[in-house]
Amino acid sequence: MLVAGARPNYMKIAPIYWAITDGDRRDFDVELVHTGQHYDATLSGDFFRDLELPQPSVNLGVGSGSHAAQTAAVMERFEKVVLEKRPDVVVVVGDVNSTLACALVVPKLAYDETGKRPLLVHVEAGLRSRDRTMPEEINRVLTDAVSDVLFTTCRDGTENLLAEGVPLYRIHFVGNPMIDSMRRCAARADGAVLRDLGLEGRPFALCTLHRPSNVDRAEVLAEILGTLQEIGAQMPVLLPLHPRTRERIRRFGLQERVASLARPGHEAPARGLLALEPLSYLEMLAMLQAARCVLTDSGGIQEETTALGVPCVTLRDNTERPVTISEGTNVLGGTTRNGILAALATARAKGAKGARVPELWDGRAGVRIVEALARLGAR
Ligand code: UD1
Repeated sequence: MLVAGARPNYMKIAPIYWAITDGDRRDFDVELVHTGQHYDATLSGDFFRDLELPQPSVNLGVGSGSHAAQTAAVMERFEKVVLEKRPDVVVVVGDVNSTLACALVVPKLAYDETGKRPLLVHVEAGLRSRDRTMPEEINRVLTDAVSDVLFTTCRDGTENLLAEGVPLYRIHFVGNPMIDSMRRCAARADGAVLRDLGLEGRPFALCTLHRPSNVDRAEVLAEILGTLQEIGAQMPVLLPLHPRTRERIRRFGLQERVASLARPGHEAPARGLLALEPLSYLEMLAMLQAARCVLTDSGGIQEETTALGVPCVTLRDNTERPVTISEGTNVLGGTTRNGILAALATARAKGAKGARVPELWDGRAGVRIVEALARLGAR
């Protein structure tokens, strides 16, 4: 049973699904479950289409809510599904609330009086920002603490788990499934957005922003938007807007800092901070491939830019993905004007020198995961 709940999850379950179906592995039956944490087509259904995944057979339909309400709703509904479907293995991915909620259900279940229960597998285990004010960090630490099998994307993930007392035999360094998805879909990247906006062959910066720590406080959001406007004086900064960020810009009266671009047929001006509707996965890939530089508070985009060799400034003071800094194109910029501008200069110099793609980010993580599960007898 492969579980997804929110936007960054789909690209992590897809490579496992493909490894089973492409490899014609009849020793596995797959069931896709969606918790419904994300429900808008642009944050959910469209991704299944772009990744050529079937729609999930179960959608728990939990929707939005406080952390506690959302986590509790997933737990209650997911327990019923597991008891009904009786999977041998439950795979959770990443660090969203749905990941933790489903993980907490599994170890306390029993199918019968022998205590039989599914194996709990966490993909993208061991990442640590060491910033416990991030909800995702709580989700990572707790999910790893209750998982039976932990698949890591990088060696520091394995080291973090060992330092927390996870026995080595539970940990498998398999590489990064997010990069599997990116490589597989690269040829289908959808450049329509670049054509619609007249951006083909022109320099532009791409920005994504959605962390509560960046968008929920007026003064922090205002400083970031002001800095993006400053960068936008040199080349257009394209900002596809997460619904949360759009709402906060309106609530804090910051609309005049951002020009809205309607597509299609609305050519991007040579300068400015330009908001877009959320992009599909294939559109985002085309934008990432073509961008001169990227500014983001997303985890996945730090990894995708490193794999593509595109300079990236992370709009945070820390990252759970340090390999993107030590080997890749990523630089921490924080959230102040001076920090962001200095990091942008460093990232562009780093990108020009050429960065390394981290070990095992080679498009085969999904295959390694399925092979490891088969070896564990999880079928
Ligand atoms: C969640 C994840 C975050 C991930 C991000 C990717 C947690 C704690 N956070 O944050 O790690 O990087 O997804 O997008 O799990 N909303 C919609 N439509 C939707 C879903 C949400 O409009 O389909 C709006 C609602 O107003 C909602 C808000 O976005 O309250 C936040 O959604 P939520 O899923 O709680 O968190 P994200 O900020 O998306």
